[in-house]
Amino acid sequence: SMMMAIIVAAHETTTFASTNALKMLLEHPRVWREVCEDPSLLSPAMEECLRHNGSIGSWRRRTTEAVTLDGVEIPAGARLLLVVHSANHDPEVFGDPDRFDIRRDNSASHLTFGFGAHQCLGKNLGRMEMQIMIGELARRLPHMNLPPQPLEYVPNLSFRGPQHLRVQWDPTKNPERQPGFSQREPLPPARLGAPLARDLGRPVNVVWAREVGEGLLHLRLESANGDLLPSWDPGSHIDIECGSHELSRQYSLCSDPNDREGWEVTILREPESRGGSEWLHQNVRAGTQLRVRGPRNHFALEPTEAPLLFIAGGIGVTPILTLAESARRQEHPYELHYCARRAEAMAFREELAEAHGDRLRTYVSSRGERMDFDRLLAEQPDDVQIYACGPIRMIEGITQAMRQRGLPEDALHTEIFSAAGGVHDAADNHPFEVELTVSGLKLTVPAESSLLTVLRANNVDVPSDCEEGLCGACEVPVVEGEVEHRDIVLRPVERKQNQRMMSCCSRAAGEKLKIGL
Ligand code: FES
Repeated sequence: SMMMAIIVAAHETTTFASTNALKMLLEHPRVWREVCEDPSLLSPAMEECLRHNGSIGSWRRRTTEAVTLDGVEIPAGARLLLVVHSANHDPEVFGDPDRFDIRRDNSASHLTFGFGAHQCLGKNLGRMEMQIMIGELARRLPHMNLPPQPLEYVPNLSFRGPQHLRVQWDPTKNPERQPGFSQREPLPPARLGAPLARDLGRPVNVVWAREVGEGLLHLRLESANGDLLPSWDPGSHIDIECGSHELSRQYSLCSDPNDREGWEVTILREPESRGGSEWLHQNVRAGTQLRVRGPRNHFALEPTEAPLLFIAGGIGVTPILTLAESARRQEHPYELHYCARRAEAMAFREELAEAHGDRLRTYVSSRGERMDFDRLLAEQPDDVQIYACGPIRMIEGITQAMRQRGLPEDALHTEIFSAAGGVHDAADNHPFEVELTVSGLKLTVPAESSLLTVLRANNVDVPSDCEEGLCGACEVPVVEGEVEHRDIVLRPVERKQNQRMMSCCSRAAGEKLKIGL
């Protein structure tokens, strides 16, 4: 019985998944060409194929306990048909879910292999088979294409894939028949698990680069392959690689989210910083090609009827301006307060004045104008929701004024661009155990190492960027155990929920943690 389950389950699922993947790729010839030219894209491409058009459409499960799902009560012992394709196109998890995007940074969160104790036993074998099969076709038959044809799908609710897929190619154009052909490099080793973050870089061209204030470089980026860029919501940021895979920095998107042709970012030159902004200022011109990842959003507007107060400090205006613009378009009540040291260092001042009129207040400290948080908050209604982006000192000032005013701490939503300053001494650390509930790995995090370092040393790829608790890139889900949060990404209310942590800096408060990897 087990052998039948393994042989049949492994055969149908992998052949359908590979056929669906080949069909997806050949239906997107530009993507197919990219995969043929760069085998490091095989792993991200297979993951996106599994998400977008996997081989399991739905699967049967029985509830082990009563649960209420989106207001629907499901008793224990109920028989369910879980529509996996629907989950894999959930817009709350996968932005623009019907778009086929091999550089989507969370494709591997698909449920095609199931989840939890009964997830597919052979998922990494399946991944490997698909990468080798599609990789060999890409290497040997890059000129293959998909002729028009009727497709007949198996009449089955669970397995999904065409009975046959006809492809065609001209054998005289096979690479090995071309003059001067020399044996190509073998395929890279198949990647097991989620794709490496560095393989998800999206090439973009800098269309223009302009100085828009003192030390402020404004860039417009367009996709290098001519495709529309992924959609994004106000508050989103992208990671830009600064000359190497290892050095990337995050910049808020500050253009119109409806503009899918291009993204715009503004980069403040910070000579004292860790080198990313300096590299971009020195090296980026119109025509430069960059690699970016994302977009991601840790600073989205939450649905509310309450009035909104936007506070921006310096370059922190970049995410705030998209949030304020969204509030303006929706005719939501809001105010926008923007402070900087010098008027010359204020980006978008005129555009903001024009768009927001008397809802905008600016403060230039070199002119003796200071934002008085106590006074500002005293004028706000009790249910105000505050969105603030700027240096840590500004956020601390707002937090203190909120306490004085008696506002709940979860009314504050923040994005912070500079280090907290409270660097922890490794001498204060203690070792702890970590159990990975999905993979079953049990690891020890020594006092002198971070959780992120230990995960990577054990082949668990977790993306990272700042590695200082600033950016949220290294977030992992917490299943059990108390966390000592040392980042400045999570809000107090999110820390209390104890559902996520930043693996680069946060640690177990006690002896043990369970995380959902
Ligand atoms: Fe930025 Fe961890 S890598 S918060």
